[in-house]
Amino acid sequence: MSVPMVDLKVQYETIKEEIDRAVLGVIQSTHFILGPHGKALEEAIAAYHGVKHAVAVASGTDALHLALIAAGIKPGDEVITTPFTFIATAEAISYVGGVPVFIDIDPVTFNMDVAKLEAAVTPKTRAVIPVHLYGQAVEMDPLMAIARKHGLKVIEDCAQSFGAGYKSRKTGSFGDLGCFSFFPSKNLGCYGDGGMVITNDADLAEQMLSLRNHGSRVRYYHDRIGFNSRLDEIQAAILRVKFKHIDTYNAKRRQNAMTYNSILSAAGVRTPSELTNTVHVFHQYTIRVKNRDAVKERLDKGGVTSSMIYYPVPLHLQEAYRNLGMKPGSLRGAEEAAREVLSLPMYPELTEAQIQAVAEAVKKAM
Ligand SMILES: Cc1ncc(COP(=O)(O)O)c(C=O)c1O
Repeated sequence: MSVPMVDLKVQYETIKEEIDRAVLGVIQSTHFILGPHGKALEEAIAAYHGVKHAVAVASGTDALHLALIAAGIKPGDEVITTPFTFIATAEAISYVGGVPVFIDIDPVTFNMDVAKLEAAVTPKTRAVIPVHLYGQAVEMDPLMAIARKHGLKVIEDCAQSFGAGYKSRKTGSFGDLGCFSFFPSKNLGCYGDGGMVITNDADLAEQMLSLRNHGSRVRYYHDRIGFNSRLDEIQAAILRVKFKHIDTYNAKRRQNAMTYNSILSAAGVRTPSELTNTVHVFHQYTIRVKNRDAVKERLDKGGVTSSMIYYPVPLHLQEAYRNLGMKPGSLRGAEEAAREVLSLPMYPELTEAQIQAVAEAVKKAM
């Protein structure tokens, strides 16, 4: 047995007929850009999150970039975020000329440590981007209270957390804007690139609609310099099919995580923690291992399971952010996580036998 990190083929096989029909329908309609599927998907995703507006865009990175423009972030503005995320979170800040300000993470959840947020606020701070990493929500109540006190915009990075909950609400519905990625391996993924922004603010939604389409709301009239960042109809049609199954997919991920937990925690492995007020959707199933690199090497050689390191270098120590002048040791929680995290195969269709094989291989490699 050889278990991959993600198996998109096995999922496609289970929904093949619906997907094929949806894709063919778009081709036959020849309505490829900004059509009925995109609009229906936006309505369905807004309703799912209990928000008023959703605007589909071309990727999760674009969702963050355009959200920051809509939120009015300007060159020199400081935006507080986590160093332990995919670089797109910080890149979006850099695209608008903003300065990413990294604060350390909570070693239990791997998310931004909200207790460190207020101390990082300066007169130049304009926004905060919490990232719901691996599928678990950031502590949004205290975060929102600090943001509101200091007049900061909140842009949630929900690229890994579609369907995740905090208290009784879903991630993306707390801040001013919530940004999603539909990259193929995400909890809700299309068959290419895609993204979405949700908001309750009609003005922000209007701006997003304009920004994604060359600064235009009326054809060939351009109110601002915008972008070509539309979700195409084929991807929207695929997402509408997959969206019908998202709660089942997330429930299966949770069940798989519990199966992993029961085998691995009995063996003394540091398994992921789910806080009591969150519903974790396990975009990644990530353990902590002191001798991580040696364990990963043994797993790679054993050939039973794939494993991945998300992320080996925190953003404050990346070459791309050398200009920030941050040194090793400045954000110890993130640096230690980068040395110890190891993500194991996780997708809804994993079988119990596969999970057992992976867990046994991990135990043997420790
Ligand atoms: C936390 C995070 N933010 C942003 C992105 C960017 O999304 P995309 O790849 O759709 O541009 C990703 C995914 O790749 C991500 O994991």
